[in-house]
Parts: sequence; structure tokens; C-alpha cells
Amino acid sequence: MPNVSLYCALDTRDRSTAEGLAQRLAPAVGGLKLGLEYFCAHGPDGIAAVHGAGLPLFLDLKLHDIPNTVAGAVRSVAALQPHYLTVHTAGGIAMMRAAREAAEEEAARRGVAPPNLLGVTVLTSLDDSELARQGVTATAREQVLRLAGLAHEAGLAGVIASPHEIAALRSEHGADFHIVVPGIRPASGGGSGKGDQARVATPADAARAGATALVVGRPITRAPDPLAAARAIVREVADAS
Ligand code: C5P
Repeated sequence: MPNVSLYCALDTRDRSTAEGLAQRLAPAVGGLKLGLEYFCAHGPDGIAAVHGAGLPLFLDLKLHDIPNTVAGAVRSVAALQPHYLTVHTAGGIAMMRAAREAAEEEAARRGVAPPNLLGVTVLTSLDDSELARQGVTATAREQVLRLAGLAHEAGLAGVIASPHEIAALRSEHGADFHIVVPGIRPASGGGSGKGDQARVATPADAARAGATALVVGRPITRAPDPLAAARAIVREVADAS
């Protein structure tokens, strides 16, 4: 089993909380995920401050607009040098291709590595009946697999997926496709409640199924000792291999 990275989701609007956690977790985690909640509050400067802790950055902006606008947004955040950046696959093949081309051109212009673009497929907040109301006759799982195929075709590096789709995506898209997985709950230890996550897996199970990276938020950030909680997850993944 290849190395599986652990990204901690810093879902907060509070800058000092995010910066403090980044410093504390730096010895244990593989990277940090910051999303719209933080970006809308603190913008690129706030992101750069957290990135200053030196860890790879997963910028979860879930971009979704016409191709020209998404390409422009990708160029705008290129200076932050995220390792991962998300776009919605529902934006279509042309939008995803425009995002990839913009990422590659802008990175080449700056002499840095381009971000790995990840496609967001079906939000886990949408179930089969909600999709049907939108006119999608496929099940959520079928739609996830279909949209992941479009992401691959557009040249994205990979997708975000629930633990339940890892194995199917890995066998369909091969070893190099990035499968980044939230909904992870440690087998033991503090802070392992499911919270509002409906479809969960342990770090070991997700790693065995073929995940590239795991995204864990509250089981780390709300633990009495976040560094110890992160280390326990890293150990759990290592023991699974
Ligand atoms: O706290 P928790 O471990 O549930 O956080 C998981 C992170 O992954 C959050 O940032 C959440 O927004 C994100 N996420 C998710 N489920 C998805 C996509 C993203 O939980 N389907």
C-alpha cells in the first residue's frame, strides 16, 4: 500500500485558531485543508499565514462557474501554491479543462509546481431523492462514478470521494488517480463520534481500500490533544499497511 497522507480540515473562521492548530499539528500531519469558511473571512493573506507553518495546503474552494471565470480564479490562487485545489465536476468538461490549463500555465509562468486539481462529484448532503428532484435519474453512487470519469477525462488529478466509493474508483482509474477521502472516523481514541457524517470509515479501512489522502477535521481539532489525535491516526494508517 503506498503512503497515505493525512490532511487536517481546519473548519474555522477564527484566524488565530487556524494558525495555532497549523503550528501544533505541523509535526504530525501531511497537510492542512482550508475551505470557503476561512477563505471568505480572511482571503489569500489569511491562507498564506496558515500555509506559513510549512505544510502542503489543500485549498477547498469548490470552484463552479463558466470556464473563463474558473480559469481566472485558478490563476488568482496560484500564488498560494496549493497542493490540492477543488473544482465542481458539475461545471462540465470544458470548465475542468480550462481550470487545468490555467493551473499549468500559471504555475509554469511562476516557476512553481501546479496544484493537483480535484473534482467534487455529488455533495454528500444530496441523496437519491434530492437528485431525482433535480432531474438526475441515476443514484448518487452512479452519478459519483460518472462524474469522476468526466474528471479523469478532463485531466484532473483526481476526485474527492466518500469511503464507500474508493475501491470502485481505484479499480476504474488506476494507481495514479488521487482519491481524497473525508468522512474518516478513527477506530478508537478521543473525538471519534460520527458527528454529522453519515457515511464513515476508519483511517485503516480507507487506506486499505486505496485512498491517496484522508481528510479529518473534528476528530483532530476537537480532541483534548489535537497533536496526539493526529499521531494516533497516522499510526492507525501505518499499522494497516
Ligand atoms: O470534521 P470532519 O472530519 O467531519 O471534516 C471533514 C471535512 O471534509 C470538512 O472540511 C468537510 O467540509 C469536508 N467534506 C466532507 N464530506 C464531503 C466533502 C468534504 O466532510 N463529501
